Amino acid sequence: MGLIYVNPEGVDGIPNPLKTAQDVRTTFKRMAMNDEETVALTAGGHTVGKTHGNGDASILGANPEGADVHEQGFGWMNPTRKGNAEDTVTSGLEGAWTTTPDKWNHTYFHLLLNHDWESKKSPAGAWLYEPINIKEEDKPFDAHIPGVRRNPIMTDADMGIKMDPEYRKIAERFHKDQKYFEDVFARAWFKLTHRDLGPKSRYLGADVPREDLIWQDPIPSVDYKLSDTEIESLKEKLLNSGLTRTELINTAWDSARTFRCSDYRGGANGSRIRLAPQKDWEGNEPKRLEKVLNTLAEIQAGLSTKVSIADLIVLGGSAAIEKAAHDAGVNIKVPFHAGRGDATAEMTDVESFEGLEPIHDGYRNWLKKDYAVNPEELLLDRTQLMGLTAPEMTVLIGGMRVLGTNQGGTKHGVLTDREGLLTNDFFVNLTDMKYSWKPSGENLYNIVDRKTGQTKWTATRVDLVLGSNSILRAYSEVYAQDDNREKFVKDFVKAWVKVMNADRYDLK
Ligand code: HEM
Repeated sequence: MGLIYVNPEGVDGIPNPLKTAQDVRTTFKRMAMNDEETVALTAGGHTVGKTHGNGDASILGANPEGADVHEQGFGWMNPTRKGNAEDTVTSGLEGAWTTTPDKWNHTYFHLLLNHDWESKKSPAGAWLYEPINIKEEDKPFDAHIPGVRRNPIMTDADMGIKMDPEYRKIAERFHKDQKYFEDVFARAWFKLTHRDLGPKSRYLGADVPREDLIWQDPIPSVDYKLSDTEIESLKEKLLNSGLTRTELINTAWDSARTFRCSDYRGGANGSRIRLAPQKDWEGNEPKRLEKVLNTLAEIQAGLSTKVSIADLIVLGGSAAIEKAAHDAGVNIKVPFHAGRGDATAEMTDVESFEGLEPIHDGYRNWLKKDYAVNPEELLLDRTQLMGLTAPEMTVLIGGMRVLGTNQGGTKHGVLTDREGLLTNDFFVNLTDMKYSWKPSGENLYNIVDRKTGQTKWTATRVDLVLGSNSILRAYSEVYAQDDNREKFVKDFVKAWVKVMNADRYDLK
């Protein structure tokens, strides 16, 4: 039951097909499924198999998640009967949806639309629907007892398909045009089972469909290579473009931070930060973004070599970081791999990108609003989604603070008098015992000089957690060491490049 999308008996267990339809719509929208895909999947899925609730649910043992380890993921143990076959109780609903639940055919819509259904209770006491006027030969056979026919059933969600006006139109079309239903089902099933595989370039085998599908977030491939000299000259142009280092670094970070290792979506490749909806996200600071993108477009237009905007965005960040390290006394090259493409609006499923909006980013010391979850926990969530480790998170935050990358230019956690230089000052000052740390507001702290009582800096929970959590503090202390200034820069660059290349499957 934990795997079922919505309550099959009705919202909060109360039958109401229209309400349940709304719940189904919201749930499937989260999986980027539209109404047509939702109806196709549910109807196609329920064309086969059955529900299980033939017995007294109250005598069952703990559910699979709650059962003891020795149950090995099996739950709802039945202490009095054999518990499987005709005794099975899982959802508590009982019965098959179609006349032939072991065959892929089109009887689901026939039964749903051409019969009247009444609310009933299953043997386990769960709400379901049974037909009022069904011919004997339209009833499915019992799955286990030979020769016995049973009423088919519908869940409240199935009835939603019949009652909700939008779902109903789709169901009628599918009922009339079976080829169309099969095509929509096949595509929606493929989408459901392949969405979290990421872009098509990650697929293997001979069955990969040739067609590009919009939910794969297609990105055009590029056919250029850049020599080292060309890369160096591009970096010069970017640094002399009038854009500040922070503008370049923030734009590169923002374009890459959407990457999620959970489903391989987002990331800098495709430069979808230029497109709706990303260009308008508050977290992307639309004004600054527009300014940077306009300048990059001008640079691109003036070049004799081909370079994508996606590559220019990343290269801008690299150039600015190299300069910031150089000015802090460390010469380092930020490795850069050209080859990103620029997606177009036509290749972008705007609605499905809405779920990628950063509504918090501890790396840029920002929360879109106050949440019930602590800022440091939100930071961890982003960190794991981006596939970063705890030391990588630590070094990135410390570096980004001194580079002045906070959203809106706030000074929280900028624990340095040399903002803009890639120094280890954040860690030195965070761990320096000459300061004390005092709460000064919601998610705000003063870092106070113990001798003078003067507030030297301000910080958020995300800054202070790097000193308060024992493990993160251990990393912070490593980076605070005098003899680790260079290590800090090297580790920062390595973590930065990991973020920039997170979606470069061609490099892995
Ligand atoms: C609207 C959302 C859905 C709801 C509320 C729902 C509900 C249920 C319930 C209550 C059961 C019975 C579980 C049991 O008692 O063992 C079930 C079984 C099943 N569902 Fe769904 N379902 C939904 C969508 C889907 C989708 C999208 C698919 C596949 C594309 C699907 C495929 C199946 C299959 C094949 C079974 C039968 C399993 C068996 O025979 O043991 N369902 N569903």
